[in-house]
Amino acid sequence: MIEALLTMSGVHTSIGAYHILHGVDLVVPRGKLTMLLGRNGAGKTTTLRTIMGLWRASSGHIKFAGNEIAALSTPQIAGLNIAYVHETMGIFSDLTVKENMLLAARGAKRISDIDDTRLKWIFSLFPAVEKFWSTPAGKLSGG
Ligand SMILES: Nc1ncnc2c1ncn2[C@@H]1O[C@H](COP(=O)(O)OP(=O)(O)OP(=O)(O)O)[C@@H](O)[C@H]1O
Ligand SMILES: [Mg+2]
Repeated sequence: MIEALLTMSGVHTSIGAYHILHGVDLVVPRGKLTMLLGRNGAGKTTTLRTIMGLWRASSGHIKFAGNEIAALSTPQIAGLNIAYVHETMGIFSDLTVKENMLLAARGAKRISDIDDTRLKWIFSLFPAVEKFWSTPAGKLSGG
């Protein structure tokens, strides 16, 4: 049997007066890549934002690793190591790549607080991050 890491069952979400999600059921197995596909306006972004607590589910259940998370705040959900990458860049274009990384790093006040091994791993995956380290992040290409 495949173990479910994240499950949504019967989730309803409204944005203001608009009832957007009508009973979403979703199972994300542990250790697998799951894609959510659908036409424009189908509710993919709303589903992801609901998981992150950026929109509040009005009913239904969202469980992560067996625990109900629907009532948690976004920082609490992020603290469980669930991350959400926006479709827009969501970076501070006037700050350097280094300053952006520091802002995003949990609990780090200076670069030396970031685990060196982790930073080297990030550089190996994305060499441009190291190359443009002291460059305004807005100068990076979209890719
Ligand atoms: N802030 C909002 N206020 C009102 N309606 C919204 C808001 N955000 C999304 N919607 C509506 O909710 C529905 C689902 O939108 P959503 O953005 O979740 O779709 P999507 O599947 O991510 O679409 P796309 O493929 O275009 O990214 C759409 O009808 C959209 O117009
Ligand atoms: Mg979307």
